Amino acid sequence: MSTIRSVICGAGGYLPERILSNAELARMVDTSDEWIVERSGIRERHIAAKGEMTSDLALAAARRALLHADTDVSEVDLIVLATATPDQTFPATATKVQAQLGIVRGAAFDIQAVCTGFVYALAIADNFLKAGQFRCALVIGAETFSRLLDWQDRGTCVLFGDGAGAVVLKAQTGSGTLADRGILTTHLYADGRHHDLLYVDGGPSSTGTTGHLRMNGKEVFKHAVANMTGAVNEALSATGLKASDIDWIVPHQANKRIIDATAKKLGIATGKVVQTVDLHGNTSAASIPLALSCAVADGRIKKGQLVLMEGMGGGFTWGSALARW
Ligand code: ACO
Repeated sequence: MSTIRSVICGAGGYLPERILSNAELARMVDTSDEWIVERSGIRERHIAAKGEMTSDLALAAARRALLHADTDVSEVDLIVLATATPDQTFPATATKVQAQLGIVRGAAFDIQAVCTGFVYALAIADNFLKAGQFRCALVIGAETFSRLLDWQDRGTCVLFGDGAGAVVLKAQTGSGTLADRGILTTHLYADGRHHDLLYVDGGPSSTGTTGHLRMNGKEVFKHAVANMTGAVNEALSATGLKASDIDWIVPHQANKRIIDATAKKLGIATGKVVQTVDLHGNTSAASIPLALSCAVADGRIKKGQLVLMEGMGGGFTWGSALARW
């Protein structure tokens, strides 16, 4: 039975120019390159320049994704931008990107699911395209997490960075089988009872300030492995596929140990897992599309392959999305 599929036609990423190394961080707080690499796998992160905003990073990634997809902006009728660090409380950062791209039609809005933001945004755009309401979507994850960090807190400031990634989704008719290109299944979850394990201690309606990121790292670690494993298994059981059928796992790039532990629990060889966390740290909603764009650009991810994305973040929120590239 023919069906509409959201085909990922291009991907692009952008990292700010300034690199902050572990060695430099060790001069700011009581830490070391050895500790950071051993506990997280992170070697460096990028920090947005003064005046460089989430919309600037998003715009750069969106332009690269459009170029890669050989798509003119006139085709785009939907922009979904995942971020926990918008330029302003309102309007949505997506509308700034829309204006900067010169798009004057369709819809543009932000969504907030922290590190699961990209998976949520992808699922939302996919459902709009499948319903026939829009035809071509830009799905962006963009963050300036450096602005949320307490730079005195060595338990958190060493883990995060700034960046953006984007994909172009186009509605195409498929046969309704797993042989179709496009997004095959998405699975989204939330459990707000875990709010206090990972949050920002400010906001417009509580303190009137932006606040700083607070985290219980050990607890987050345990939930992350269990939740992401569960979300991947849901995607496999919904499609009848086995872990060994998947060509690439593209996880949220939070921490090498979380990525490795999740892959091990799933029985997926580390060689099939895309890891870029060493180069940019945890960029929250930007991390999956950044990893995707890297693995597409270097030729690892090829047309027709099965790509499984998984993420987990504050809330807690978590989810997975399986696509045939
Ligand atoms: N440098 C040196 N020492 C440090 C640092 C640091 N940057 N940070 C903490 N320590 C110290 C602690 O003070 C503690 O010292 P103590 O034993 O004298 O008290 C010691 O290191 C061990 O601290 P733990 O918190 O127990 O270290 P742990 O092994 O749990 O590693 C980490 C901490 C890396 C945060 C880990 O818990 C983790 O990876 N958690 C997941 C967090 C995460 O990825 N969050 C991202 C958001 S959610 C998501 O994206 C999935």
